[in-house]
Amino acid sequence: MPDRQASRKPRRLRSADVALSQSSDWGDLTGRVALVTGASRGLGAAMALALARAGASVVLWARQATTLQRVAKTIHTFGRPSLVQVVDVTDAPAIRRAVTQALRRFGQLDIVVNNAGMWGGDPLVRLSRKIWSDVVATDLTSVFLVSQAVAPIMIRQRYGKIINVASTSGFLAHHDGAAYCTAKAGVMHLSRVMAVEWGPYGIRVNCIAPGLFRTAMTSDVFADRAWLARRRRQVPLRRFGEPDDLAGLAVFLASRGSDHITGQTIVIDGGASLAVGA
Ligand SMILES: NC(=O)c1ccc[n+]([C@@H]2O[C@H](COP(=O)([O-])OP(=O)(O)OC[C@H]3O[C@@H](n4cnc5c(N)ncnc54)[C@H](OP(=O)(O)O)[C@@H]3O)[C@@H](O)[C@H]2O)c1
Repeated sequence: MPDRQASRKPRRLRSADVALSQSSDWGDLTGRVALVTGASRGLGAAMALALARAGASVVLWARQATTLQRVAKTIHTFGRPSLVQVVDVTDAPAIRRAVTQALRRFGQLDIVVNNAGMWGGDPLVRLSRKIWSDVVATDLTSVFLVSQAVAPIMIRQRYGKIINVASTSGFLAHHDGAAYCTAKAGVMHLSRVMAVEWGPYGIRVNCIAPGLFRTAMTSDVFADRAWLARRRRQVPLRRFGEPDDLAGLAVFLASRGSDHITGQTIVIDGGASLAVGA
């Protein structure tokens, strides 16, 4: 008896399969417009530069103009346009105004990286309402506000990529982290809800969960050499993240190479969250 499986014709490739498998431009962002919050330094600046290098025009947000201007200057050397906007991501009217201005300037908004964030912590028994509110507003509510402001544009376009920066602290509990860990867990689940609600309009929503990266936010941690040396031995790749480690993942999630991925969280931590005490 002939092997029916072997004699069956291969599945006809859909156009998306053909286009992607026959081209090498899956990460090309030429013609795309990206908005990056917290783009003035650290992980946000690294992702903004990576998106610009991949061809995108980039809208840069933070509260301080001078540091944003430095990132814009570098983007200019790549021959890409950028727009600096001083925006506090906890301020809903300011967000809406800035999105309207950015849309007027570029005519479209394809990629949003919700990266702005802060650390704030204390032992739970004395954690103040202020720290809790500031951290939740900056790390979680901002993702809701910014995404809600850009969604109508992406829905009209029938296309969008939203990348939310969470943290491995969103699924690992640690001392002093009640507000931060809870906010980051919220970012991951909010991303799943967004993916479900906005998927039918071609909007993909994914999360990046970094482990420990060397930035201004973690300067205190990186100053404690003894702790770092102990912790490094527990990281399978034996090093912590540098902002550039995020570049490839950000471009992938922003590009058509990831067009069939939504609602997912990708951990980028050198394996640290796999191997406590390894
Ligand atoms: N570094 C790590 O190890 C690590 C690990 C996991 C997750 N993360 C997450 O990665 C993201 C970036 O962290 P990072 O380490 O790059 O921090 P960072 O160096 O402190 O940078 C934070 C950025 O966010 C901006 N920002 C803060 N509050 C803002 C607000 N209310 N409105 C607008 N912009 C605001 C800051 O600029 P202005 O001060 O000028 O506003 C800056 O551009 C955060 O969401 C953080 O939670 C970091």
